[in-house]
Amino acid sequence: MGYNLLKGKKGIIFGALNEQSIAWKVAQIARREGAEIVLTNTPLALRMGTLNALAEECQAKVIAADATDVEGLESLVDEALGHFGGKFDFVLHAIGMSLNIRKGRTYENLDYGMYAKTLDISAMSFHKLLQTLHRKDALNEWGSVVGLSYVAAQRSFFGYNDMADAKSLLESITRNFGYVYGRDRRVRVNTVSQSPTMTTAGSGVQGFDGLFDFAERLSPLGNASAEECANFCVTLFSDLTRKVTMQNLFHDGGFSTMGMSEQVMELYQAGHEAKKS
Ligand SMILES: NC(=O)c1ccc[n+]([C@@H]2O[C@H](COP(=O)([O-])OP(=O)(O)OC[C@H]3O[C@@H](n4cnc5c(N)ncnc54)[C@H](O)[C@@H]3O)[C@@H](O)[C@H]2O)c1
Repeated sequence: MGYNLLKGKKGIIFGALNEQSIAWKVAQIARREGAEIVLTNTPLALRMGTLNALAEECQAKVIAADATDVEGLESLVDEALGHFGGKFDFVLHAIGMSLNIRKGRTYENLDYGMYAKTLDISAMSFHKLLQTLHRKDALNEWGSVVGLSYVAAQRSFFGYNDMADAKSLLESITRNFGYVYGRDRRVRVNTVSQSPTMTTAGSGVQGFDGLFDFAERLSPLGNASAEECANFCVTLFSDLTRKVTMQNLFHDGGFSTMGMSEQVMELYQAGHEAKKS
């Protein structure tokens, strides 16, 4: 059931790769809430072909763009402005990738070329996107830009590797561009810090299954699903959250504020006992 939260609104959604992608769910729910959308991903991701099914379902235009390429972002924004017939209202940045993680390199053995790419793809691209939108004055007043983050920006999670640094940078860009965009155009900029979620990017992280299970047991409300994340993102695109900006908003069932839960402690003790016997 929809609430018409995005009736008359238009926006660009980055990062839908397959049905598991958080961005995929955001596109479906934004559409259900009445939005008109443009979908974008890299030319390589588009060649994999699955995005067309989502585009059909959401009656969305698909435009290829690599988020690290400023010229590509400029043409994407120009094309979107043409397609929508003017300014638009929201953008989702759901982009993350680490070659160091893919290649199994640990944090004390990083390849610096790959590290730079991680930061460029997963964080600096957010600045490039915001700067392009701002320069072109592409967003309506009270527009909203959302990026997706993870609690490893604040705390150490060994398997998250150089992505942790990228998320810290992403959240810093959110604060600093949030100031500029709010001051100049009354546009909101926030990140949503999401629970571990079974997606292509998520399951690439070392020890992801264990982390998923641990977070599920530690969080009083359990892990948040991709669909629940999408619902939250849509509220941030809506007019109900106009004065929320420059924030990193935890959407994690309470995980980030927990220290220890009974469920985790019981399991830990049982493992301990089993080791002793
Ligand atoms: N899955 C999780 O556990 C989890 C938890 C917290 C935050 N996040 C964040 O959510 C976001 C979306 O990831 P997801 O989990 O849905 O995984 P996903 O693999 O479905 O999405 C990642 C997307 O990034 C895109 N991408 C990679 N390089 C790009 C580039 N140069 N230009 C444009 N797009 C590019 C990929 O094509 C893909 O669509 C990421 O920022 C991720 O870090 C994920």
